[in-house]
Amino acid sequence: ETTTMQEPPRHFLDLSLIETPVLRRILDSAVRFKRAGRSAARPLAGRALALIFEKPSTRTRVSFEMAMRGLGGDVVMLSSREMQIGRGETVADTARVLSRYVDAIMLRTDRESKLRELATYATVPVINGLTERSHPCQVMADVMTFEERHGPIAEQKIAWVGDGNNMAKSWIEASARFGFSLRLACPAELPPDAAALAWARAQGADIVLTGDPAAAVAGARCVVTDTWVSMSDDDTESRHNLLAPYQVNERLMTRAAPDAIFMHCLPAHRDEEVSAGVIDGPQSVVFDEAENRLFAQQGILAWCLGG
Ligand code: CP
Ligand code: NVA
Repeated sequence: ETTTMQEPPRHFLDLSLIETPVLRRILDSAVRFKRAGRSAARPLAGRALALIFEKPSTRTRVSFEMAMRGLGGDVVMLSSREMQIGRGETVADTARVLSRYVDAIMLRTDRESKLRELATYATVPVINGLTERSHPCQVMADVMTFEERHGPIAEQKIAWVGDGNNMAKSWIEASARFGFSLRLACPAELPPDAAALAWARAQGADIVLTGDPAAAVAGARCVVTDTWVSMSDDDTESRHNLLAPYQVNERLMTRAAPDAIFMHCLPAHRDEEVSAGVIDGPQSVVFDEAENRLFAQQGILAWCLGG
């Protein structure tokens, strides 16, 4: 058929690159997959997903594998160290070759440019499993988790406290896509991605950036933080010093709404970015977030591989 144009693959690279109705559809199907549990249909039977990790992972690795298997599909788990890419084969050639074997590719890398190159040359969907700049799969699971507890996230107030890192960027993009208010408290030296902020505000997002954690958290129904030292960062004393005033602890949580929940994508460092009392306390939903990675990713996979 020479007259039909090949549809481009449905990449899941960033929340800013996917329209709101599609993201909403993904979350709706995530909720349905969760309700169906193990009795879910097998819509991805006969399909295969390659997972490439250039960085460590516990949740992303296991949840993607179980998500794909749960929908009837197969997975190929790859560490870049064991691939030819680790000895200089180009990302473009890797993309073209893997596209001949599998139906989708997830990549975790600390160079976003590699993810973009993979997506440019792959003829199958490419999924962002975390880069140094963003972590959209995690924030999909987090929005799902918020809505399980508090209902629709639109118009609600979410506070991000800490490093302006990859998670912060995906929360900024989510604020524009899902219509919630975002208050970010970050040290001036570790600000969130300026281009993402400008993009989200141009979309009409209500985002305030401050250096004051108490101001950011005031009245919030969800308080989110993350590690002080991400996988792409050097573990310096200055990072710890800059971020120490941004610890989420019981005192800070009293400023939030009385029914506020606490979120963290994990892995966490107790009594660094969050006090043990908060992360192990009744407001914490961190293991629900981890669980929901499974279902959010089933929604993402079903969309990427859907007809
Ligand atoms: N939250 C998250 O992505 O965890 P992993 O690094 O264990 O995959
Ligand atoms: N910001 C963290 C998230 C880990 C899931 C990192 O990039 O290491």
